Amino acid sequence: MTNQQPHHSTHAAEIDTRNDTLKIYVNGSIVPKNQAVVSVYDSGFMLGDGIWEGIRLYRGKWAFIDAHLDRLFGAAKALDMDLGLSREEFVVALDQTAQANDMHGNTHARLMVTRGIKSKPFQDPRLSQSGPTIVIIMEHSKPSGDLLDTGIRLHTVPIVRGLPMSQDPKLNSHSKLNCILAGIHAQKAGADEALMLDPQGFVNTTNGCNFFIVRKNEVWTSTGDYCMNGITREKVISLCKTNDIPVYEKNFSLTQTYDADEVFITGTFGAQTPVSEIDGRVIGDGTAGPMTKRLRDLYFELLEQECSAQK
Ligand SMILES: Cc1ncc(COP(=O)(O)O)c(C=O)c1O
Repeated sequence: MTNQQPHHSTHAAEIDTRNDTLKIYVNGSIVPKNQAVVSVYDSGFMLGDGIWEGIRLYRGKWAFIDAHLDRLFGAAKALDMDLGLSREEFVVALDQTAQANDMHGNTHARLMVTRGIKSKPFQDPRLSQSGPTIVIIMEHSKPSGDLLDTGIRLHTVPIVRGLPMSQDPKLNSHSKLNCILAGIHAQKAGADEALMLDPQGFVNTTNGCNFFIVRKNEVWTSTGDYCMNGITREKVISLCKTNDIPVYEKNFSLTQTYDADEVFITGTFGAQTPVSEIDGRVIGDGTAGPMTKRLRDLYFELLEQECSAQK
């Protein structure tokens, strides 16, 4: 790769020693990190049979919580899985965990629900009879400022996020092997993260974030057919629409991507993160461009509105 910056990932956060002594929510109890354990018979551990949400606490409020709960409950229905708690009870569990850790902002929660403990170490979902396992890991988490200055470097990999009838790419499943393999491939090539194509070869997504390019003041992203229905992605698209920025969900190729004026990726953790380089081609001047910065500002204004309006 041409850029000689040290390697980092889209989830790079500033070091915070308070994370050494966190309290974790495990099935209704909030326990010290070193006591937060699940059974070796848990279907999440054994088979990746579970779903999760990454949610951020902003000014003491859970940002876009309704959208996160919609996606969680939608995935549970697809997996024919009982989540064990109501929407309101999930919010209470999140609040209690934040309170136990004295967290009010710059906090990232990973809410995980698996099908629960199995009676035998086999795949059949009917072997999970004990009810779901619910875990919330909550960390002090301030995205590294370095990411905004230098952006991340992507490498295009042969691993695709596939068709909806194999493992639907819209499921935030515990098993992330497909994306992990993609990430390994990119890291072996010296990049930070993987750029993944769709089954037709059009540019689709990265292994952990949604993907956007900017060409001549237009914002393009994939059709959405093969990527995570990212909440940040959806917010960026609607911010473009309400601010008269032309935005298209469409097929486009790597050729159009290398030549883009700007590229950025989106996710709950990093909001909008600039991409500096793809497959050794520097994007624009290699730093965050004006559209990326504008959309980031609009997104943080939206977060501010959303989180000051709640409660
Ligand atoms: C593969 C993938 N793409 C995109 C995203 C971003 O989604 P969101 O904006 O809802 O955090 C995630 C995060 O869950 C993801 O795992």
